[in-house]
Amino acid sequence: MSDLLLEYEKATSTCTRCPLAATRTQVVFGSGDPHAELMFVGEAPGFHEDKNGVPFVGQAGKLLETLLNGIGLTRADVYIANVLKCRPPGNRDPQPEEIEACESHLFHQIELIRPMLVATLGNFATKLLSGKPTGITRVHGIPQQVTLGGNEVVLYPLYHPAAALYTRSMLSVLEEDFRRIPELLGLTTVVPEPAELDVEPELELEDEHAQEPAVQLGLF
Ligand code: URA
Repeated sequence: MSDLLLEYEKATSTCTRCPLAATRTQVVFGSGDPHAELMFVGEAPGFHEDKNGVPFVGQAGKLLETLLNGIGLTRADVYIANVLKCRPPGNRDPQPEEIEACESHLFHQIELIRPMLVATLGNFATKLLSGKPTGITRVHGIPQQVTLGGNEVVLYPLYHPAAALYTRSMLSVLEEDFRRIPELLGLTTVVPEPAELDVEPELELEDEHAQEPAVQLGLF
């Protein structure tokens, strides 16, 4: 599958589906583990990404790396891409026609990578991949089951790190939402609360009811 992703990256490097082709330095396809269980989708390359050809290498990228390290992961463990593969001039918002022209690149990437969890960073990625107009403020931190690239995946909307760099309260929420990622990936062992454990007859029934059949005690 990684060969197919590489081939697709090559094919995409000459894309002229929208006018951003004329102003970009290069296509910023995506980077990371082609077999990643966890994929992040941001908005569009900025100045540094356009120069380097790698997503999230500016300030927002540094924060993303810090957040990843905080849950025991690095960039190499995940795959990072954007809704748009080319930089909008002056870092303006992606236009609907650009998203429409570019979206099949992202869907095909997801189809080839087959992640289990797709964390969308900010409004543009969240709206595109959820297929719903509901904004990030209402849906952040709430996992949704969706079908992407022909596969069932869990979509996990998060605030965009660039927004969190400007608003302290958003950063706290982003950190808190990030902390749930290991659980969503099934990486944490959930220890059941004592109340959820089965009663251990030897311990509980030793005294007065030790000889009574379980059915009479209503235990099963
Ligand atoms: N860098 C990216 O690659 N994407 C964003 O959405 C922001 C910064």
